[in-house]
Amino acid sequence: MKKLSSPRSRLAVLFVFVFALSIQFCSPTQNQVTPQEYKMPVGGVDSHVSYSDHIKPMLENSCTPCHYPEKGKKKLLNTYEAVAEDIDEIIYRVQLPSDSSEFMPYKSKKLPLSAVEIQVLKNWNDQGLGR
Ligand code: HEC
Repeated sequence: MKKLSSPRSRLAVLFVFVFALSIQFCSPTQNQVTPQEYKMPVGGVDSHVSYSDHIKPMLENSCTPCHYPEKGKKKLLNTYEAVAEDIDEIIYRVQLPSDSSEFMPYKSKKLPLSAVEIQVLKNWNDQGLGR
């Protein structure tokens, strides 16, 4: 059997390694879970929505790091008050076509919100923005 000792095959191994690393670290959806993996309102989209149980985990999943302290250079969306105040703009932005310059999450660095997630945001608004 031929050993992997020639400079060229070592280079090939290095290349594959760097390639694998770049996939690992440049993937846009890293650290993001699907909506099903965090707690959604029991009983589906019609049930009661609260900030702490549903909205907070949703935004932490999809709107970090840009709208959170440390990296957040944009309007912070890390508190109940900030999110409640901006809810109309949030609902508007997440429903834009994903190639719109105003679409959120910005430049598709994260997965778009699902239809269920968008409905949960609307229900929270309609139900009076409960904590
Ligand atoms: C990759 C970074 C990034 C992510 C992720 C992101 N945003 Fe943004 N957001 C921006 C930038 C940059 C701006 C400012 C540019 C603009 O207004 O379009 C912005 C602006 C906004 C604004 C307007 C701010 C205002 O003054 O009212 C809202 C609302 C918003 N984002 C909501 C969201 C929501 C909701 C999510 C998650 C579903 C999200 N964003 C995810 C980068 C991001």
